[in-house]
Amino acid sequence: MVPATILARIDSQKQRYINELQDFLRIPSISTYSQHIRDIRRAAEFVLSHIRKLGFQASLHETERHPLVYGHLQTSPEDPTLLVYGHYDVQPPEPLEEWISPPFEPAIRDGCVYARGATDDKGQFFTYLKAMEAIMDVRGSLPLNVKILVEGEEEIASPSLKPFLEKHKTELSAQVAVISDGSQFAHGIPAITYGLRGLSYFQIDLTGPRIDLHSGIFGGIVTNPIQALTEILYHLKNPDGTVAIPGFYDDVIDLEKWEREEMASLPHDEDALRSYLGIDELAGERGYTTLERKTARPTLDVNGIWGGFSGEGAKTVIPSRAGAKVSMRLVPNQKQRRIESLFVDFVKSLAPRGVRIKATTLHGADPVLISRDKPGIRAAEQAIEIGFGKKPVFLREGGSIPIVNWFKEVLGLETVLLLGWGSPDDGAHSPNERFHLDDYHRGIRAVAALLHEDLV
Ligand code: BES
Ligand code: MN
Ligand code: MN
Repeated sequence: MVPATILARIDSQKQRYINELQDFLRIPSISTYSQHIRDIRRAAEFVLSHIRKLGFQASLHETERHPLVYGHLQTSPEDPTLLVYGHYDVQPPEPLEEWISPPFEPAIRDGCVYARGATDDKGQFFTYLKAMEAIMDVRGSLPLNVKILVEGEEEIASPSLKPFLEKHKTELSAQVAVISDGSQFAHGIPAITYGLRGLSYFQIDLTGPRIDLHSGIFGGIVTNPIQALTEILYHLKNPDGTVAIPGFYDDVIDLEKWEREEMASLPHDEDALRSYLGIDELAGERGYTTLERKTARPTLDVNGIWGGFSGEGAKTVIPSRAGAKVSMRLVPNQKQRRIESLFVDFVKSLAPRGVRIKATTLHGADPVLISRDKPGIRAAEQAIEIGFGKKPVFLREGGSIPIVNWFKEVLGLETVLLLGWGSPDDGAHSPNERFHLDDYHRGIRAVAALLHEDLV
């Protein structure tokens, strides 16, 4: 059990912890934009210097794109080892005009810190550094061995991470891994996540005539790439909300009875969700509840679309090209690789004559379900109760984190704790992303508690 002196130390340092998080949030470490390559490195160095200050042996590892930060602090070889993972990269902040305060100038309003990366994942990851700092301040050593792995490529699907894990398998060995990169069930209802959806993300490019054409001179004799594209997209889903790709559902495992009952017992507020989203009606696959659809059922979405003329006024033109970004969320036991080939085959079969079509995989991740029957899970329940003053609920989440599968697949790690400190309405990937300061504080307390529980 965490000593009260450590919790008191955390309480007394609240403001300083907030200031330091703001320094982290000021770095625009957007992994997908190549013009931010130096900011990404600055964020990695920021994390590295913090970890070193805690007494960790740590270094940067270069990859083809953004550096990984890895460090470890050994107490005794007899003690268990906890592997902490986080990501210091963030999503692009656009649309900028929607932000009340600029995305990389953190601002405090209504008990929250607002900035890109506040909840995803800088704020949540930083709770680990501050909790360990408080423990070191009070007792001068950690109660167990800790390894920390922080990457700058999570938001681009972690392309360098699996090879890194394979290469450093022995060094990275641990009994338990922990990630805080999701959320509570709702603000004030803490949770342990035992499932994540996977992802398969594509770009579709259609090419018709060699150049944009006068639609009067050539209209009626060529296939219009935008028309072709939208027809293809239309056919990807059925009117009942299911995905129309043949074989798409073959490997989906059904929700079990106990699981549906447990989900139904969660304090889900459908009206609050609708009003947060600003829509009159939720949609989706028939026969499944909202929570089931958003966490445990697969789906398909068009993420972006382009082509032709969309400027001011009118231009009578048949475009030469059109394109779209399309992604699918996957659930156990769907496999990203198989879904990719089903998608490509289907999309090609839908392409009309007179256009050329290209479907390119951008990235993805496999879905995951985690065993709840582990001492580490009991320890996390206890720690969350100490940190948040409430027992956690169990839930599945709809987002994806590529490393979670690789913990087991590559490192052979059986216990992965997904402990989201954020709130679902924190606006991850949206404008005005935020992190509740009370969640930040409770998260730090919960981490300090976790490190003092029996994890194995
Ligand atoms: N932190 C999220 C994943 C997440 C979101 C987990 C909500 C649980 C609940 C992560 O940073 C993320 O955004 N992942 C990407 C996937 C990646 C392969 C690009 C995602 O889910 O779109
Ligand atoms: Mn994240
Ligand atoms: Mn994210």
